Amino acid sequence: MSYKLVIVGYGGIGAWHHENIKAHIPNIEVIGAYDIREEMLEKAKENGIKAYSSLEEVLEDKDIDIVTIATPNNFHKDIAIKCLKSGKNVICEKPVTMNKKELEEIIQVQKETGKLFSIHQNRRWDKDYHIIKKILEDKTLVNPYYIETRVQGSRGPLHGWRGIKENGGGMLYDWGIHLIDQILDLFPQNKVIEIYANLFSIHCKEVDDNFKLMMKLDNNVNVLIEVATNCFITQPRWHMCCEDGTAIVEDWSCKGKIVKLNNNQELVWDDVIVYTEAGPTRTMAPRPVETTDEINLPNVDPKWSSFYLNIIDVLDNKTELIVKPEQCLRTMEIIDYIFEANQKGQKVNCNI
Ligand SMILES: NC(=O)c1ccc[n+]([C@@H]2O[C@H](COP(=O)([O-])OP(=O)(O)OC[C@H]3O[C@@H](n4cnc5c(N)ncnc54)[C@H](O)[C@@H]3O)[C@@H](O)[C@H]2O)c1
Repeated sequence: MSYKLVIVGYGGIGAWHHENIKAHIPNIEVIGAYDIREEMLEKAKENGIKAYSSLEEVLEDKDIDIVTIATPNNFHKDIAIKCLKSGKNVICEKPVTMNKKELEEIIQVQKETGKLFSIHQNRRWDKDYHIIKKILEDKTLVNPYYIETRVQGSRGPLHGWRGIKENGGGMLYDWGIHLIDQILDLFPQNKVIEIYANLFSIHCKEVDDNFKLMMKLDNNVNVLIEVATNCFITQPRWHMCCEDGTAIVEDWSCKGKIVKLNNNQELVWDDVIVYTEAGPTRTMAPRPVETTDEINLPNVDPKWSSFYLNIIDVLDNKTELIVKPEQCLRTMEIIDYIFEANQKGQKVNCNI
């Protein structure tokens, strides 16, 4: 079937939803947009769609099948609930809400109305993430025990509502939510049992513009998640330590490598002392190269459009949702714990 969609919040990503759907999702027609800013309504008209003058006008329009919400974060909950109650299927930008409790309220209404509710966790289809996922799925490396996942930029201060606490600004909500969602998607059966977090701010007065956090899962995987906006020499996007090797994905170019132990482990090298510029070492001496193999990263080709294609298939009763509200409930509970751990300055135990 084909479906009519309206975008609420026609700013940066709202307009992107329009272009993306037009280019890749033939079964959805974007028919209009609503924004509180007049210039965005003008832009909608220029782009050939209807400009709704109020949210009420959107709610009353029975022709609309789906609403995509792309406003600042603090408005998501109220708009989502109103749209669900008016009979619309709803897609909400991330972070779905400001905390777990708000999302519980939405899920309650979603259940009452029986409408579809999903969250645009599009970075589940990022290539760098799929490379890491495939290395584990194919068992190219086994028994991961420490994973670093990070994004580091250096553009400094957060602009507009992203720097305002009331709007749900800050990098934890902005990028952190994606990186946490990817880890939960990587280990869907495992619980997060410990969280330690350090949110800090170099330029913003109200919100975190940098953070580092550690999560421990009940399969003994420890994860470092890091977002920086003031980092001028970057580290790998992914660095994954497994019992039998290490993988890195350097950056969004998705270049990197796997180094894996091979069967040539007979060498005796305990007695070798290596004299380095910094001093002698035995434990940290480089291992003989013939004991490892260098392997190319796997080929993967995920597409962001998979998100909307799944929405159509769900509405057509062909499959189940990929991004489920209950999964995001876990993410939001983790976010709640991160704020608590940061405020207490200590590790918190949990079972999420
Ligand atoms: N999934 C992703 O990759 C991704 C990328 C960017 C942004 N986002 C999310 O999308 C949302 C919007 O981010 P953005 O970068 O597009 O911000 P933006 O500031 O560019 O756009 C937000 C728009 O919402 C409008 N708006 C504000 N309050 C409104 C209200 N109550 N009703 C209707 N319109 C309202 C603003 O006028 C603005 O045009 C945020 O939740 C953000 O986290 C997601």
